[in-house]
Amino acid sequence: MSKAATPRPVKKAVFPVAGLGTRFLPATKAMPKEMLTICDRPLIQHVVEEAREAGIEEFIFITGRHKELLEEHFDLQHELEDTLEARGKSALLKKVQDATFPAGKLILTRQPKPLGLGHAVWCAARIIGNEPFAVLLPDVLMKGQHSCLKEMVDTYNKTGGNLIAVEEVPRAETKNYGIIDTKDQTLEIMPVDGLVEKPEPEKAPSTLSVVGRYIFQPELFEYLSAFETGAGGEIQLTDAMAKLIGKQPFNAVRYNGKSYDCGSRLGFVEANIAYGLDDPEIGDGVRALLKRYT
Ligand code: UTP
Repeated sequence: MSKAATPRPVKKAVFPVAGLGTRFLPATKAMPKEMLTICDRPLIQHVVEEAREAGIEEFIFITGRHKELLEEHFDLQHELEDTLEARGKSALLKKVQDATFPAGKLILTRQPKPLGLGHAVWCAARIIGNEPFAVLLPDVLMKGQHSCLKEMVDTYNKTGGNLIAVEEVPRAETKNYGIIDTKDQTLEIMPVDGLVEKPEPEKAPSTLSVVGRYIFQPELFEYLSAFETGAGGEIQLTDAMAKLIGKQPFNAVRYNGKSYDCGSRLGFVEANIAYGLDDPEIGDGVRALLKRYT
C-alpha cells in the first residue's frame, strides 16, 4: 500500500488588518482597531504570538490607510531598548524585544480599499505563491493552554487540505455566525459539507460557528480572484471557501480553548477581564474589582 504524501508545511500566515473598525469609532478614526490593547499588548501582537507558536516563519500584514502604527509596533526601538537596558529593566526589555520581528520576517502589502475579507486575503496571493498558508483574524483572540493555530497545524500535518477552527454556539444564536454543515458534529476532525451564513436556529445545519482561524491551500486564490461580491456588497472569504468544499479535503476542528470577539465592544471588555484575571501582576486586583462592581 502506498503511503499518503506528507502535507506541505504551513510557514506563511496572513493577517488582514485593513478594515475600518467602525464598531469602535471614534477610537478607530486614526488608530487601527488591531492596536486596541488586551491587557498589556495590542490585539495584533496576541495573534502574531499565536502564529509564532505554530511555527509560522513569514508574517504577511494586509494593511491600509492609517495602519502605519501596526508596522511601527513591531519595529526595532533602539532608544527605548538602550534606556531600559541602562536602567536594568530586563523584564520590560524582554517584553519590548518580543514585539520585534527579525529582518525579513514581516511582509506588508496594502489593500487599497476595504472591499471585504476575501479581497484582503486575495491581496496576499503573489506573496503566498503556490504554498499552503494560514489566515488569522486579529480581532478574534483564541485563549487556551496552547496556541489555536498550533493545534490546527498539528492536525493539518496529518490531514492536509483545508482546515478551519469552529466553536460551539447556542442554537438560538446561530443567526449571528457562519455555521458549518457537517454530518457528525461529535467527530474530532469533521469533514465540512457546506457553510451557511447566519442561518435561523431551525435551519442551522449544526451549532458550530467559524471562528477566524484558517489553513488554506493556494487554490483558494482561484476562487477569490473572481472578485464576486456577496453579503453586504463585500468580497467574502466564506463564499470562496464554500467553492473549495467538495473539490479538496475541507475539515473543521474544535479548539481546546475559548474565542473572544474583540471586534465587538462587549467581547473586547470580556477579553480584557479574562486576560486580566490570568495576569500574574494584576489578576488579584481584577478579581477584587469585579467583586466591587457586581
Ligand atoms: P471585520 O469585519 O471584523 O473588521 O474584519 P472591520 O470591518 O474592520 O470592523 P467593523 O465591522 O467595521 O467594526 C475582520 C478582520 O479583517 C480585516 C479587518 O481589519 C479585521 O482585522 N479586514 C476586513 C480587512 O483587512 N479588509 C477588509 O476589507 C475587511
